[in-house]
Amino acid sequence: MTSPRLDLSSRVIAHRGASHYAPENTLAALQKAYELHIPWIEFDVMLTEDNVPIIIHDETLERTTDGHGEVAKTAYKDIAALDAGSWFDRAFSGENIPTFAEFLKQAAELNLSVNVEIKPSEGKDQETAMAVVQTLQAHWLTARPNLLVSSFSVVSLTAARALDKSLCLGLLLDHWFGDWQESLLQLDCVALHANWRILTKRKVAQIKDLGRYVLAYTVDNPEQARELFSWGVDAVFSNVPDVILSSVL
Ligand code: G3P
Ligand code: MG
Repeated sequence: MTSPRLDLSSRVIAHRGASHYAPENTLAALQKAYELHIPWIEFDVMLTEDNVPIIIHDETLERTTDGHGEVAKTAYKDIAALDAGSWFDRAFSGENIPTFAEFLKQAAELNLSVNVEIKPSEGKDQETAMAVVQTLQAHWLTARPNLLVSSFSVVSLTAARALDKSLCLGLLLDHWFGDWQESLLQLDCVALHANWRILTKRKVAQIKDLGRYVLAYTVDNPEQARELFSWGVDAVFSNVPDVILSSVL
């Protein structure tokens, strides 16, 4: 039951924006993906202490900002004041952590296709999913194609599905847990997003036989991408999507 609403023909998705060229999960990384002519971007959404959905990967602020502590224990007004660019390069100093709403608006403006990864901090699986769906309902036209919502959290995906029957969902996996197939089917996911290291030709065929897209993360090596595509993988997430695009596709 592969959804006709997704166009994955570009076969490469900019991971956390074009994150080799600009600080991950920032508007600069989104802009860079656009400039590289990559139509799809992936990014991670987490809640602040006061439940504002923001774009960040880690549960803590240290790696990608000049702040400290846990995202889930920091209010949005304090997170908004952080520098999320200097760690990457001084040229990006002053870049901040966008809210999910800001990020979506900019993606829509640039006509980008989006993969929203629900990235709940510990214990916030349902709340994060609810905030993601509510923000999508407010800021992303339902008629707009190419919206894919994914998560490693089955609890988050279940909450998202309960709120919106028509969402295109992707189940993220970094290992094959016992009932992954059941989760994929029960949640009516259109796609399985797997760590490329756990994929084999046989597994890809098994997922394709279920009528689901297969996406693989994070693939920066063109040789690796070539092999995955030869197995039938539909698209790869890459920090260097331009390299994959020019050398493989
Ligand atoms: O969505 C693909 C990939 O982003 C999943 O892993 O840890 O980079 O969010 P991570
Ligand atoms: Mg991610």
